[in-house]
Amino acid sequence: MDTSAEIGVFGGSGFYALSETEPQEIAIETPYGSPSDTITLTTIAGKRVAFLPRHGRKHQLPPHKIPYRANLWAFQQLGVQRVIAPNAVGSLQAHIAPGHFVINDQFVDRTTGRADTFYDGPQTIHVSTAHPYCPHLRTLAIQATRAQDIPVHDGGTCVIIQGPRFSTRAESEWFSRMGWDIVNMTQYPEVALARELAMCYVNISLITDYDAGVVVDSGHVEAVDVLEILRQNTENVKRVIHAMLETIPGDRRCDCADALKNAQM
Ligand code: ADE
Repeated sequence: MDTSAEIGVFGGSGFYALSETEPQEIAIETPYGSPSDTITLTTIAGKRVAFLPRHGRKHQLPPHKIPYRANLWAFQQLGVQRVIAPNAVGSLQAHIAPGHFVINDQFVDRTTGRADTFYDGPQTIHVSTAHPYCPHLRTLAIQATRAQDIPVHDGGTCVIIQGPRFSTRAESEWFSRMGWDIVNMTQYPEVALARELAMCYVNISLITDYDAGVVVDSGHVEAVDVLEILRQNTENVKRVIHAMLETIPGDRRCDCADALKNAQM
């Protein structure tokens, strides 16, 4: 049985399977505990792909309970070097509407108490997150989204809140005024941990709502509304990921593999 994979795909809320035929399912243990669920391995467009729903298949793990370190470590154990990470996000700006995708290039971390490093001592490293998302995978994700005729925003800043509650109006207004574009609960620490493992990481942010009704008064965000639009977005993101897998080359064309080169004191 081939238990290797070169590309890892996380499933977000409402996204629990990548393809109809997923013959191999494996359970992996890591030094950081069990990942969110078993991992399914498939071959798509000639590439070995590992799929892991980050909330678990029954959506049993809230954002602050996701074992982010175990998930990334499990991918690494399989050989994953590139990660595609869709997320449900709220919009903080009027021109970014529900149904749109954002391939963001920056984040602001507002989470607390999450295990967000593999380097807890004695080994200490300070990885640069100045450019946390892989520039090459970002380009491929934007092209694949455009090819599916889905409105896509190239770049943007995602603020990651601790959750599980949604933001207050005051918080949401503050985020919008700061010029941040979207809000989410799970992009951090996933992206930072991937970087510590020198993986390429790209986010595909699926807009489900206008957060807290500040920039467009659509009322306040409710979980049921998010889930409904997520069902529609999930089919779109699957098509985008399949299209991306067709275009990802065998070699890495970025410097993400060197992320740790100058990170040690
Ligand atoms: N995920 C989807 N919509 C969200 C919102 N408005 N805030 C935080 N996380 C979200």
